[in-house]
Amino acid sequence: MAIIAPSLLSANFLNLQADCDMLNKSEADWYHLDVMDGRFVPNISFGPMIIEFIRKATTKVCDVHLMIEEPEKYAEAFKKAGADILTVHYEACTHLHRNIQQIKSLGMQAGVALNPHTPVNLLEDILADIDLVCIMSVNPGFGGQSFIPHTLTKIRQLRKMIDDRGLNVKIEIDGGVTLGNAAEILAAGAHVLVAGNTVFKSENQIDTIAKLKAL
Ligand code: DX5
Ligand code: ZN
Repeated sequence: MAIIAPSLLSANFLNLQADCDMLNKSEADWYHLDVMDGRFVPNISFGPMIIEFIRKATTKVCDVHLMIEEPEKYAEAFKKAGADILTVHYEACTHLHRNIQQIKSLGMQAGVALNPHTPVNLLEDILADIDLVCIMSVNPGFGGQSFIPHTLTKIRQLRKMIDDRGLNVKIEIDGGVTLGNAAEILAAGAHVLVAGNTVFKSENQIDTIAKLKAL
């Protein structure tokens, strides 16, 4: 059964409590929290302060996706804010192994995100050290973009790498996930579906989450 991780980037920040209440009542498994610095990606979202508030509003897993440069400077702040999973971008980390060790030593699960142009085989020598791979299925920075179809090939390749090594690494798909393409994404081998617009712009959010969960 898929793990459903709604992205709060598409939530109503004037009434976050209502959206947290909805997610808590729903079958959503994780909160996906998108942190953007205006340098790694051409957009700025929110940081540890907002996540600290969200942490108080839920007991669900807080899955923090850092789209920032120099993530080592902030890993501790995100731990203090309440992150359970901290994901850094492959393209932002010159010393990725060191970043992963730092995240784990702080007591969080460690994830690595890949931009659409970054091949999954670059993870060969780090795969055994991480808990999650976030395959970006859009160029990071904004919600509401269209799914890049080549992602399906990357999912199949990565799933084979994980299974061949007998590892327990989750594949998360982030960007453009809809009720129309989610089944195909899961069939390709993904474990976690991030969904921003599909959940928050739908008429019945709880029902949309239930539909994703039922796939
Ligand atoms: C994009 C973010 C995503 C985004 C997904 O940079 O990492 O998590 O919120 O939004 P949708 O599901 O609307 O594509
Ligand atoms: Zn994300």
